[in-house]
Amino acid sequence: MKRGSLVNVQDYRKAARAVLPRMLFDFVDGSALDGQTASRNCAGFSDWWFRAHSFRSTAEPDISWSAFGQRHAAPVIIAPTGASGLLWPSGEAETAEAAARRGHVMQVSAGSLLSMEEIAAGGKGEGERWLQLFLYRDRGLTREFLHRAKAAGYTAICVTTDAPVHGRRERDMRNGFTIDQRLRLSTLLDAAIHCRWWFRMRGSGRLTLKNFAGRATGNMNDMAAYIASVLDPDVTWDDISWLRSEWEGPLIIKGILHPDDACEAIARGCDGVQISNHGGRQLDGTLSAIDALPAVSDAVEGRVPIFLDGGIERGTDILKAIALGATACVIGRAHLWGLAVAGGKGVEAVCDVLVAELRNAMVIGGWKALSDLDRSAVTRLPQ
Ligand SMILES: Cc1cc2nc3c(=O)[nH]c(=O)nc-3n(C[C@H](O)[C@H](O)[C@H](O)COP(=O)(O)O)c2cc1C
Repeated sequence: MKRGSLVNVQDYRKAARAVLPRMLFDFVDGSALDGQTASRNCAGFSDWWFRAHSFRSTAEPDISWSAFGQRHAAPVIIAPTGASGLLWPSGEAETAEAAARRGHVMQVSAGSLLSMEEIAAGGKGEGERWLQLFLYRDRGLTREFLHRAKAAGYTAICVTTDAPVHGRRERDMRNGFTIDQRLRLSTLLDAAIHCRWWFRMRGSGRLTLKNFAGRATGNMNDMAAYIASVLDPDVTWDDISWLRSEWEGPLIIKGILHPDDACEAIARGCDGVQISNHGGRQLDGTLSAIDALPAVSDAVEGRVPIFLDGGIERGTDILKAIALGATACVIGRAHLWGLAVAGGKGVEAVCDVLVAELRNAMVIGGWKALSDLDRSAVTRLPQ
């Protein structure tokens, strides 16, 4: 596929499918069980229609937003995606550099191949990064991550609530996907067909989840098993209060779908909520992000910023989410397709596409600034 023919996120997905070994494409694209939530994450946006205005446009709409005392150029945030360094050499650092060049916040997964310090260095000191964490059984490990995050310049912590255990991702199960690929015949054949990926990755050395290097030894499978063993399915809101007492910067809860949970998060001192169902990779059948947004927004009543991830593939999706109460949107698979196709430049290109679509829609629809959008900007038609 020629670079000029990559004009939208779906084009990048198709191009990524062509370059990635099948099991890696499936790892990114896949979802839990029947994928109902993953599909609805995308489809839910098309239930909402703009009420565009006439003669109100400006050629340069203001798409900046602010949270936690910082102003940002555009409402696009990079989602935490574990093991994305499998898609491109030093993938997480490339992503950090791309995000920094474009002024987008990057949420960095604790399950990255590179360490949080290496990823922070990838942004060359520029750019804002938030560290995504799970709550681990070992509070010492969580505390250690908080200290390291602060020292490496991470400005906020995002705690993911929806992965006390891994979801059942059947494409991964069928493919026998393990992060540390043993050289099975099928793996070799797959890699041979996708030789560009193979050549690119061959100099990457031993792949490992470096944030956990001091805690677990062995290959990536041993590490993944270690991480699974320290995830804590017994986490309660009291643990969030504990985390609040340990981290003085902004604290965001990622994985909120229920308005009561959004209120609980605020009551526990959290500074932001992120509506998310992990891209439909955890509990299939749970509400889509855009369907959950109106009720959460009503409950939050503007007390804290609301971030939303799940199914964002168009700048118009972002605009609809902002009209329904989101402050900014977070992109998971979309940026990974760009990364798989062209490394950091691909991440930048995907973000640029979304921003261009967003700006274009604002000019045509007659919204001068993101702050002009409220619920009156969209309507839901009966099915
Ligand atoms: C390959 C992959 C890995 C992910 N790893 C993490 C992770 O380590 N931590 C986390 O909180 N969410 C993780 N997520 C979920 C994303 O942060 C985000 O919630 C989701 O991708 C948003 O949906 P979208 O892909 O439709 O944009 C991952 C998603 C993907 C696709």
